[in-house]
Amino acid sequence: MKTSLAIPVTKTSKSRLPEIDFSNLVFGKVISDHMFVADFVNGEWTNARIEPYAPLQLNPANAALHYGQSIFEGLKAYKNEKGEILVFRADANARRMNESAARMCMPSIPEELFLEGLTQLLDLDRSWVPSSKGSSLYIRPFMFATDDYIGVKPSDTYKFMIFTCPVGAYYSKPVSVKVETSFTRATEGGTGAAKTAGNYAASLYPALQAQKAGYDQLLWTDGKTHTKIEESGTMNVMFKINGKLITAPTHTGTILKGITRDSVIQLAKDWNETLEERFLTVEELQNALENGTLEEAFGVGTAATIAHIYKIQVNGIDYLLPEKGVDTFSNRILNELDGIKLGDIQDPHGWMIKL
Ligand code: COI
Repeated sequence: MKTSLAIPVTKTSKSRLPEIDFSNLVFGKVISDHMFVADFVNGEWTNARIEPYAPLQLNPANAALHYGQSIFEGLKAYKNEKGEILVFRADANARRMNESAARMCMPSIPEELFLEGLTQLLDLDRSWVPSSKGSSLYIRPFMFATDDYIGVKPSDTYKFMIFTCPVGAYYSKPVSVKVETSFTRATEGGTGAAKTAGNYAASLYPALQAQKAGYDQLLWTDGKTHTKIEESGTMNVMFKINGKLITAPTHTGTILKGITRDSVIQLAKDWNETLEERFLTVEELQNALENGTLEEAFGVGTAATIAHIYKIQVNGIDYLLPEKGVDTFSNRILNELDGIKLGDIQDPHGWMIKL
């Protein structure tokens, strides 16, 4: 990629790469050598730089620690057989980050700063991008308030940073989920559509209760009536019922506008699948599980890409989903996305950025 923004680089004096066991990558534990940093001061982004990955110094009165002005993104880069690095839909992440920023009263990040910071960081740490099947480099851009002030107001200063992690599969096997009808992830008028830290913090306790009861994750329902399915864990969720692909719409502001969700929808349209962007009710889900019309259920997100669901608990009853062969919609979509990401399949929507 052609670069135009001059970003000074301080390289690490000792790469940690030789210490890393790439055959045993736990998601999010291994961080690459460098990080990108920019500061928002006096109303503008300044001092963009790449430095060795290192701890930050924060004042205890840091506003983000107290009031949660903190947003993030997640995206992935892949290495193909030729050793080329390909990044999936980074421009979409840049746009979504700014939607989160607007909702959280934070400054927007020029797309050029986001994309140049990201691509120059990846170029420097390109040896950290794994090439084995199912692995990738997870990229974590984030922004947080840096005012040292505990009065409740939007911060005047911020940091925008990016670091990366080589990762293997997020889920190594299909997952079980429980329909959640007491706790709420998001309500209309709230922050559900923003990728902000507080949404994830608030989901931890309900998810832990589900895990204690033997399920991997929750199927979140709407906050008002708890009758409509919204998301699954930290992912969007899709169902195949009677040949139709059904997923929640995003107009209520309670659903994260997933980039994997959008990609699956675009491919489903390319394939002339019957697609319904509408809320599936808990009652419909239970009926479909009872009468055998639920063909597939799967989470869609950056970390997992597609997370197959094998068991759903609804109103206290456990339902096992029908066992399917390999030629399911979700498997075909996963193969298509994997093929596009590695450049093995033509990229029909121009999603990949090659470094
Ligand atoms: C995703 O899969 O899109 C996520 O946001 C997961 C991340 C919170 C680890």
